[in-house]
Formats: sequence, C-alpha cells, structure tokens
Amino acid sequence: MVHFLVATGLLFTAWSAVLADEKTDLNQLMIDFYDWRLQDNPQFATTSGESRYGNRLENLTIEAYEARKAKCEDYLARLDKINRTKLEEKSQLNYDVTHEFLKAFVSGYDWHLYNSLTPINFLEGPHIDWDTFIEFIPFKTKENYESYLQRLQLLPSRLEQIVVLMRRAIELNRTNHNVSMDRIPGQIADTITNLAANETKFYSPFLDQLASLSFSTNDTDQLRSRGLDVIRNKVQPAYANLSDFITNEYLPNSRIGLGVSSLDRGSEYYKACLKWHVTTDLSPEEVHEKGWNEIRRISTEMKKILAKLGFSGSIREFVDTLKNDTRFFYNTSEQLLAEYKKIANELIPPQLPKVFKDIPHIPFDVRPMAFDGPDGQYFLFQEGDTYGPGYFEVNLRNPKTRLTPEMVALTLHELEPGHHFQTVYQVTENLPTYRKNTEYSKYYAVPFNFPFHTAYTEGWALYAEALGEEMGVYRNDYELFGRYSSEIFRACRLVADTGLHYFNWTKEHAVELFANYTANSIDGIKIEVDRYVTWPGQACAYKIGELKIKELRKKAEDALGAHFDLKEFHNRILKTGPVPLSILETVIDGYIRESKPTSEPTSGAFFINAGNMVAVVVVLCHITKQSTA
Ligand SMILES: *[C@@H]1O[C@H](CO)[C@@H](O)[C@H](O)[C@H]1NC(C)=O
Ligand SMILES: *[C@@H]1O[C@H](CO)[C@@H](O)[C@H](O)[C@H]1NC(C)=O
Ligand SMILES: *[C@@H]1O[C@H](CO)[C@@H](O)[C@H](O)[C@H]1NC(C)=O
Ligand SMILES: *[C@@H]1O[C@H](CO)[C@@H](O)[C@H](O)[C@H]1NC(C)=O
Ligand SMILES: *[C@@H]1O[C@H](CO)[C@@H](O)[C@H](O)[C@H]1NC(C)=O
Ligand SMILES: *[C@@H]1O[C@H](CO)[C@@H](O)[C@H](O)[C@H]1NC(C)=O
Ligand SMILES: *[C@@H]1O[C@H](CO)[C@@H](O)[C@H](O)[C@H]1NC(C)=O
Ligand SMILES: *[C@@H]1O[C@H](CO)[C@@H](O)[C@H](O)[C@H]1NC(C)=O
Ligand SMILES: *[C@@H]1O[C@H](CO)[C@@H](O)[C@H](O)[C@H]1NC(C)=O
Ligand SMILES: *[C@@H]1O[C@H](CO)[C@@H](O)[C@H](O)[C@H]1NC(C)=O
Ligand SMILES: *[C@@H]1O[C@H](CO)[C@@H](O)[C@H](O)[C@H]1NC(C)=O
Repeated sequence: MVHFLVATGLLFTAWSAVLADEKTDLNQLMIDFYDWRLQDNPQFATTSGESRYGNRLENLTIEAYEARKAKCEDYLARLDKINRTKLEEKSQLNYDVTHEFLKAFVSGYDWHLYNSLTPINFLEGPHIDWDTFIEFIPFKTKENYESYLQRLQLLPSRLEQIVVLMRRAIELNRTNHNVSMDRIPGQIADTITNLAANETKFYSPFLDQLASLSFSTNDTDQLRSRGLDVIRNKVQPAYANLSDFITNEYLPNSRIGLGVSSLDRGSEYYKACLKWHVTTDLSPEEVHEKGWNEIRRISTEMKKILAKLGFSGSIREFVDTLKNDTRFFYNTSEQLLAEYKKIANELIPPQLPKVFKDIPHIPFDVRPMAFDGPDGQYFLFQEGDTYGPGYFEVNLRNPKTRLTPEMVALTLHELEPGHHFQTVYQVTENLPTYRKNTEYSKYYAVPFNFPFHTAYTEGWALYAEALGEEMGVYRNDYELFGRYSSEIFRACRLVADTGLHYFNWTKEHAVELFANYTANSIDGIKIEVDRYVTWPGQACAYKIGELKIKELRKKAEDALGAHFDLKEFHNRILKTGPVPLSILETVIDGYIRESKPTSEPTSGAFFINAGNMVAVVVVLCHITKQSTA
C-alpha cells in the first residue's frame, strides 16, 4: 500500500504538469478566439455586453471574408498543436467543439461567393437588425451617444459594402430568388425612408432615454440635433439608395429557379448548407425520407385522436371546428396570459422531477410580447454575470384566433423543460465564453458562418414537447392533438426544404404539402415557404435534432437496459451545452460506456470492483480533479 501511495504521488506530479500545459493552451486559444470575434464584429460585441468597439461596425467585404477565414485557419493550426489525448474529458469536449466550430467556418469559405454575397432579405439585414440591435446599445453617458453617432455616420458606407457584394452576386448569376427580396423596398419605406427622421428607430435613443439622463439642456439639444442631422442627411438617403438598387438592379436579376439547385454546383451547395444546419452527415435524400416517415407516423396519431373523438373529417376540417368552438379559445388577452401562467407555474413544474434531476433554479416569467411576432419566444435576461429571469414572451394579439389546445406544447418548448432549461444549463455549466454566447445572425451567410447549433437547441425544445407526454402534462386529447400539430409542422419542413432546394419542387407543391398535413393558414404557409427558399436547410434543424436525441436515448436504453437512467441521460444532454449532433453522440456513447456494468474499464464506478486496479483509478480521478479545478 505504501508503495502505491509513493508511486501515486510521482505520477500525479508528472501528469498534472503535462495536462495543465495542454489545458492552458486550449483555454487561452478559446479566450483569444472570442476576443477576436468581438473585435472583428463590433455589433456582436455590443450585444454581448462588451463595452469596447462601441463606435465601430463590422465590415462586409470580400477582403473581410478572406481575412476572417485566414484568421480561423490560424486558430485551427494552433489547435492542431495541442495534443488532444493529453486533455481530460471535459477539455477534450471543448477541443472537439472548437475544432468543429472553426472547421465549419473554414469549410464554409468554399461557398463564400454564394448567398453570403446577399446580406439582406425579407427576414434579416440592416433594415431589420438595427431594431433589436439598438436595444442592446448602452445609452448612459455622453460617450455612449458619441459612439452611437459615429456608428450612424459609418452606416452609409456599410450599406455601400453590401451593394458591392450584391453586384458581385449578379455578375456570378448567384442571386436570391425574388420571393426573398421583393418585400425589402416596402419594408425600408415603411420603417425608415417614409418616416420623419425623428420617427425612425434610429432616433429612439434621443427621446425619453436621453431626457432621463442628467445632461445639461444644451448638451441634450446638441445631441438631438446631431442625431437628427445624421439620420436625415446620411442614414435615410443611404437606405433610399439601397432600396433603389434592389428595385432597379437586383430584382430584375433575381434568380429564376426557386431552389438553390438552380445555381451552378447548386445541389452541392445545398448539401453544405444542410450539413451546417443539421450538424450531421445526413444526405438530402435521407432528410427527405425521415420527413415523410415522421409525417406518416404523426398523422396516424392525429387520426387516432380524431377517431376517438368521433370526428370523421380531415385534420384541417377538425381544426376549423375548434376555431368556431368557444371552448377552445379565450376572448381576451388577459385570460390567455393567465392560462399561460397557470400552465407554466402550476401544471408543468410538479411533473418535472419525474424525468429530471438538477432542476434549474433561475426563475422565469411569462409576459406579453411587445410586437406581433411568433406565438411565443424565450430569452434569458443577463446583467453582467447575473442571469435571470428567463422570459417566455407570448403573443396575445387576436386572442380568439389562438387555439388553447396548442398552449401546453408551446410552453414546454419555450420554457420548462425546453429553452429555459437548455439556456440555463448553457450559461451555468462553466462553458468557455464563446460557447455560452452565440451570435444568432447572418443566416444568409450559411455555410460561411459560425455555427449556432440549432439542431441541438431546437431539437431539445422539440424533444421537450414530446417529453410532455411521459410527464403526463397534456390534460386531454385536444392538447395532445395540439402537440401533434406542432410536431407535424416540423416534419413537413424536412420534406419541403429538401423538396424545394434539392428535388426542384415548385412553391405550389410545397404549399400543398403543408395544406395537406397541417392546419396552418394558407397565407401563413406561403410566407413560411418563402422563408425556406431564403434560408436553405435552416428549417431542417429542429426535427433532425429531436430525432437524434430520441435515437440516442433509444441507443442508450438498448445498451443499458435496466441500468438506463432517464434523469441522468437528460442531465448529460443538457450539461453538454450546444454542440454538433455528431459530438452529442460521442457524449452519449461515453455515458453508455460508463454506465455499462460489463464494459471496458473507464470509470471509477467500475474500477471499484476491479480488484488490483483500484489504485490506478485513484490516480486517474485525482489528476482529473486537479486539472479541472
Ligand atoms: C473595416 O475596414 C476598415 C478599412 O479596412 C478598417 O479600418 C476597420 O478597422 C475595419 N473594421 C473592423 C471592425 O474590423
Ligand atoms: C500525444 O500525447 C500522447 C499521450 O501522452 C502521446 O502518446 C502522443 O505521442 C502525443 N502525440 C503527439 C503528436 O505528440
Ligand atoms: C450568367 O448568365 C448569363 C446569361 O445566362 C451568361 O451570359 C453569363 O456568362 C453568366 N455568368 C457567369 C459568371 O456564369
Ligand atoms: C417629430 O417631429 C415632429 C415635428 O417636428 C413632431 O410633431 C413629432 O411629435 C416628433 N415625433 C417624435 C416621436 O418626437
Ligand atoms: C452648447 O454646446 C455646444 C457644443 O458642445 C457649444 O459649442 C456651445 O458653446 C454650448 N452653448 C452653451 C450656451 O453652453
Ligand atoms: C447613393 O448611391 C450613389 C451611387 O452609388 C452614391 O454616389 C451616393 O453617395 C449614395 N448616397 C448615399 C447617401 O449613400
Ligand atoms: C417578383 O414576384 C412578384 C410576385 O410575387 C411579381 O409581381 C414581380 O413581378 C416579381 N418581380 C421580378 C423582378 O421577378
Ligand atoms: C365557422 O364559422 C364561420 C363563420 O360563422 C362559418 O362560415 C364556418 O362555416 C364555420 N366553420 C365550421 C367548420 O363550422
Ligand atoms: C367567450 O365569449 C363567448 C360568447 O360571448 C362565451 O360563450 C364564452 O364562454 C367566452 N369564453 C370564455 C373563456 O370566457
Ligand atoms: C434539379 O435541377 C438542377 C438544375 O436545374 C439539376 O441539376 C438537378 O439534377 C435537378 N434535380 C432533380 C432531383 O431533379
Ligand atoms: C396533397 O393531397 C392530395 C389529395 O390527397 C394529393 O393528390 C397530393 O399529392 C398531396 N400533395 C402533397 C404534396 O403531398
């Protein structure tokens, strides 16, 4: 025994020195990378609560694209110098995620002359993004206002950069389709150029916010007049220019083919987009097939419910009857909000311990959405290092059109155990900062973009809707039906997205698919389809992510039998944080290995029974603990 202890001590010193080195290098790399990202994209810096770079804007030029790719290649080379096998498990995961993250961007560069050349569409771009962006800018000091004024001064040159890129897209015959672009001039007119300068969002920080600060009247007046001046004489004319360019040059050259398969090397391009979004190697054919399988499975479930309720018509007809039945909607926004709160606070929480341990303690709140957006959305409030509450914002407009049977599934998705759980774990699990803080923007640039891991985040939220069944929170067949409506919509997306971009479907074909299997309004479906045309592959992430989580659960259940622990399985998924699905699979493989009573020796739990190997385990555990401290 004494002999072992001495040996342990020696081993420990030597090994921990080596581990510390590799780990320090990796940690430093991740810090440097994040720091560079903030500097390279000052808007991302601002939305991340970073006070530096507040007077700058990101460059959108081919030169900037090239420089960004070169920088990421440098980081990849630095990463390659770190010996992965010398890292402990948690750092190995960070190593793998960082590798994937950089690799995705560098590989995406192969396509930097495709949709990345059109940084504006009806869903995103400088005519939309500034609305939310301005909300993140601090306006507390005169310097804050000076920085903001500088940014407004820079804005026209950024719009010019975009025009230069789009002219390149025209030259290369790689423009967007009309449906992604033709709403833009109207959007610009409605929100920017047809308004008086002081009525635009750009001027909003000069109103009440400025009045509330204790600046002298002279200073306040000066700031206001400078704000008005730059908006009226620089910003608005620049947007008018952009709008003219889109109307006169871009739209007449918009691509004829609806899907990206109509572009040169278009099918290959689609595969790259799809891979970026779903973070696995599934082919478009496989995604399409999975979509049809899911549509068949879910619509069978829906028809069973209709049969049980004695309804003999179609899904669409059934929903039409619900819309006319006062039992299935509220008359007022107040009643709707009260019901959401009841579901969130009383219905779901008592059932969570059935399938979860370590339930997050960061509080949440349900509140009305300020604008007419989706049915619901979630975000976690952050101030400095303090997180919370998590806000579930619900759309309360036109309460009578919002069917109550859909509320439980939506609450599970956005709040508990969906996005609220997933986000709270992401920020409290001591992940490297760059992994905690995602830049959810530039969907247009995919696959030349930094990953969002939507397949993980949205896959989890959709899985949470399914979990509601096991938790027993769906109170009746109508709510179960609402859950399936929400799910089949995501299944149709797999078929439609691949249909449009890979199998050369028409828009009518895609609309018909949703009309056949969902109860969504036809007008709503048409806008959805325009979205799929605009962001190839994006809509596939949700269902593919959920299917993967279900598949991994099945794999673990089959491998572990009675040793499978559902709470532990959920814990592993959540603690991992957003990762590509391929990496999530290795995490669950690790869980299976550790939990398998007859597996190869890899965990302390197993070694305890392994006789003469006990001492070795003690060493390994000790080192692991030291290096993660
Ligand atoms: C954008 O490019 C200009 C000119 O090359 C440069 O001065 C500026 O620093 C760049 N901005 C950022 C955020 O990198
Ligand atoms: C990485 O570390 C392992 C374990 O210490 C060692 O066997 C291997 O040779 C190292 N690889 C390189 C490329 O240095
Ligand atoms: C774009 O299309 C036009 C008309 O079909 C053709 O003349 C031109 O060569 C194409 N340009 C490129 C770069 O493929
Ligand atoms: C903008 O200016 C006009 C005329 O100067 C004024 O009537 C209006 O109230 C102002 N709007 C805001 C939001 O301050
Ligand atoms: C008001 O502020 C401007 C600019 O800061 C300055 O030039 C001017 O002298 C100030 N006027 C008064 C009355 O303080
Ligand atoms: C509008 O575009 C023209 C031509 O590209 C350019 O000369 C002018 O400076 C632009 N004006 C603004 C305000 O951006
Ligand atoms: C774009 O589509 C609309 C209908 O959605 C059509 O009216 C318009 O002519 C099209 N524009 C171009 C340039 O193809
Ligand atoms: C629902 O009510 C509207 C208006 O009263 C009516 O036109 C429609 O036929 C009704 N639909 C069903 C399915 O009952
Ligand atoms: C909504 O109004 C209708 C008609 O006035 C009434 O029958 C129904 O009970 C009301 N619904 C609720 C939830 O109060
Ligand atoms: C779709 O169209 C593209 C370009 O027109 C063609 O290359 C591709 O083979 C077509 N795909 C299918 C599945 O028909
Ligand atoms: C929609 O349903 C109709 C009638 O059953 C069928 O003919 C058509 O092929 C379906 N379309 C799609 C895209 O599934």
